[in-house]
Amino acid sequence: MELLTKMKEEGLAKIKDCCDIASLQQIKVDYLGKKGSIQELMKQMKELSQEERPLFGKQVNELKEVFENAIEDQKQYLEEKQMKERMEQEKIDITLPGLRPHLGTLHPLTRIQQEIEDLFIGLGYSIAEGPEIEFDSYNFERANIPQGHPARDMQDTFYIHGDLLLRTHTTAIQTRQLEKYAPQAPVMVICPGKVYRRDDDDATHSHQFTQIEGLVIGEQVAMSDLKGTLELMAKKMFGDKRTIRFRPSYFQFTEPSVEVDVSCHICNGKGCHVCKETGWIEVLGAGMVHPHVLEMAGYDPKKVSGFAFGVGVERVAMLKYGIDDIRHFYMNDIRFLKTFTRFE
Ligand code: PHE
Repeated sequence: MELLTKMKEEGLAKIKDCCDIASLQQIKVDYLGKKGSIQELMKQMKELSQEERPLFGKQVNELKEVFENAIEDQKQYLEEKQMKERMEQEKIDITLPGLRPHLGTLHPLTRIQQEIEDLFIGLGYSIAEGPEIEFDSYNFERANIPQGHPARDMQDTFYIHGDLLLRTHTTAIQTRQLEKYAPQAPVMVICPGKVYRRDDDDATHSHQFTQIEGLVIGEQVAMSDLKGTLELMAKKMFGDKRTIRFRPSYFQFTEPSVEVDVSCHICNGKGCHVCKETGWIEVLGAGMVHPHVLEMAGYDPKKVSGFAFGVGVERVAMLKYGIDDIRHFYMNDIRFLKTFTRFE
């Protein structure tokens, strides 16, 4: 009996102190297993007298039950504890505000370029590009600006060495396209790209900027075609109410040449600070492709004619979005770029 009481105290203490399920399992085996202490006790029964046996057997069975219950309780307690600890560790506070991912937006220059490209692709044009490091011949000679001609001074050039320079205008793409297609016609291309000039950077000048040039070659292409095309482009860029006007101008590679004004999109032509009270804003250079330029490329100017126009993308973006400093485009200030999400 004493042995039983001692075993009970010892066993219950062990079970209570046990703090993980594996050791609890071991205790269970030690006491209740086939070779466990309870089984040992049962074996000792035969050494007892006939009278003593029933009581002893009853006590052992009771002890067995006590152990079973205690182990089961401890197991439940440990499992709950384990679960609680896990919950504690894996806790996430779903009421915390989330982190907003930074979404990119199209750069305003890309936006304008894509708008213009979309319009002209819709009209049947294709898009052509060319190298930014260019030969003097494509940038100047074939555009009818020979060596030593004063017109070269109008476009202060970054020379690399010898014949190589950074193209000063997308007209260099035009002369390449003319050479590529001659004497085929018709040709309808849009030539977007970066151009470089040795200008000091300020609010309206940048040593690198973006142009888009348009070129059409065909039989009987006339100035009225140019005018109709540019009017469509003006409406696309600045709204359906826009009209355009031509003013005589001079470019070496077009004859006649024009400066193209668009009626002011801010005041509708009444006069405001944006159009300097004139009602008109100058946005384009254009003209009929000079016969000599056609000839140099391999076309017969008696058979085909063409028009070309060039537009500054930064200038269009500045007018359209009311941006007052060209340098904003190149700073990569995320706050500036973010303001354009509203145009999406
Ligand atoms: N290449 C001219 C410039 O950079 C623009 C232009 C293009 C003018 C095509 C007429 C025709 O200023």
